[in-house]
Amino acid sequence: MPFLAVISRMNTAIANAPQSLAATVQPQWVAAIDALAPFVGHTPLLPLTAIFQHPKVKVYAKAEWCQLSGSVKARAAYNILKRAVYSGELFEGQRLIDATSGNTGLAYAAIAARLGVPLTLCIPENCSPERKLLLRAYGAELVLTSPFDGTDGAQAEAAERAATQPDTYFYLRQYDNPANWQAHYTGTGPEIVSQTQGLVTHFVAGLGTTGTLTGTGLYLREYNPDIRIVALQPDGPIHGMEGWKDLQTARVPTIYQPDVPHENRVVSTEDSYYMLKRLARQEGLLVSPSAAANVAGALQLAHELADSNQTAVVVTTLADTADKYGEVVRHLFA
Ligand SMILES: Cc1ncc(COP(=O)(O)O)c(C=O)c1O
Repeated sequence: MPFLAVISRMNTAIANAPQSLAATVQPQWVAAIDALAPFVGHTPLLPLTAIFQHPKVKVYAKAEWCQLSGSVKARAAYNILKRAVYSGELFEGQRLIDATSGNTGLAYAAIAARLGVPLTLCIPENCSPERKLLLRAYGAELVLTSPFDGTDGAQAEAAERAATQPDTYFYLRQYDNPANWQAHYTGTGPEIVSQTQGLVTHFVAGLGTTGTLTGTGLYLREYNPDIRIVALQPDGPIHGMEGWKDLQTARVPTIYQPDVPHENRVVSTEDSYYMLKRLARQEGLLVSPSAAANVAGALQLAHELADSNQTAVVVTTLADTADKYGEVVRHLFA
């Protein structure tokens, strides 16, 4: 079924939802979600001094794996679920559902386990075996969708289920839920300002759901309109930066605000893999392809700033480590 038809069916289903679904805040879930707060955000800001040295230009990266379930997606998943719990819209007996290529699913799964709420995840069948294993370890139910339809196909499946069975499923909608980017607006952005003592001049990040770039970018632009926001994209629809989307060809998440970045740059899988090796061998940081791609983009920019004799503090994010990317690590290092 075409995606727009699925969305329209979902809206009708929500409008016709029975009265019994009236919001009721569950105190046991509020207590559980509050107990997880110390495990989300507050990640270290690492200076990347082995791969880039310049007297006037500095490059930093936030170690986003230092959170619940080991990735940047702890922030968005936590905020989305916190809102569902605090609003009382999630009710007893419902299953959580969403589409996710992996990291958001892991974060949802960890939080859902703590809440004691069942979770269904729609993921493309070609998602790495390690990720599927980890998701199942947390107790998530997996619905595998066609690898040819990518994350868009997984989204259509989740939307279809939520539309046709609204009593059964609570649809988390990471691609369209403002709580995604707001997690970065209230977390990542202020952390970067505080950790750089307000000296940050550039923020660089790749686009997946676009939550990181949108939320952090909006906060930094408001904090200081001179801060430049740089969005990174892969060089085509088929690429190795798991977690990134090619917005030329994929469905653009509705949370994306295209006027947030001042500039868009392209990073190839080759650039990412080259940087992944350098980060491992020079910084001692074995990170994921998308994290390495962020650093590749940040370094491109840092070299240009250095060449034009500017003073700059360039900040990017490292979404996760290489732990879940065994095939890439084998390909690069075996
Ligand atoms: C490994 C990885 N890198 C980057 C991203 C992109 O982050 P965002 O969704 O905030 O744009 C994701 C998102 O799932 C991811 O899992």
